[in-house]
Amino acid sequence: MLGSTISYNNFPESLTQIYNKVQEADLLVIASPVYKASYTGLLKHFFDLLDPKVLVGKVAILAATGGSDQHALVVDYQLRTLASFFNVYTTPTAIYAKDTEFTDYKLTSESISKRVEVAVEQALFLLKQESPQSLVA
Ligand SMILES: Cc1cc2nc3c(=O)[nH]c(=O)nc-3n(C[C@H](O)[C@H](O)[C@H](O)COP(=O)(O)O)c2cc1C
Repeated sequence: MLGSTISYNNFPESLTQIYNKVQEADLLVIASPVYKASYTGLLKHFFDLLDPKVLVGKVAILAATGGSDQHALVVDYQLRTLASFFNVYTTPTAIYAKDTEFTDYKLTSESISKRVEVAVEQALFLLKQESPQSLVA
């Protein structure tokens, strides 16, 4: 559905609903598996079709999964810059987990679970702030 959508004005209804949900959300979790040292093309395509104005001032937690530790900084060097383009506030703590840290799609690492808790606390803090006028104008 998303992969075959190439135009702003020609979304299938189901995709419009997803974009509406993103627009209505207070808190976003922007997450991707790492593919070839980057976030996926599908995630990029999702953001490429998004009006840059609709996420201004929102809060996001950034997360990625990968096969190794080698690309853990994808969250900070790539997802964070993507969020900045959209004027989204990101929590300073980002989440990165390897496949080996999941069992049956459940996170088993205590240290990463702790990071998730910290990121959620930071997001709640950011959500309480009032956006500066420059962002709402
Ligand atoms: C095409 C492809 C490219 C990948 N490239 C990387 C990579 O560059 N670095 C890495 O750490 N893991 C890499 N992986 C491993 C995935 O990031 C990891 O298995 C991920 O958790 C898969 O999530 P998924 O099952 O939702 O696709 C790659 C996997 C695939 C399928």
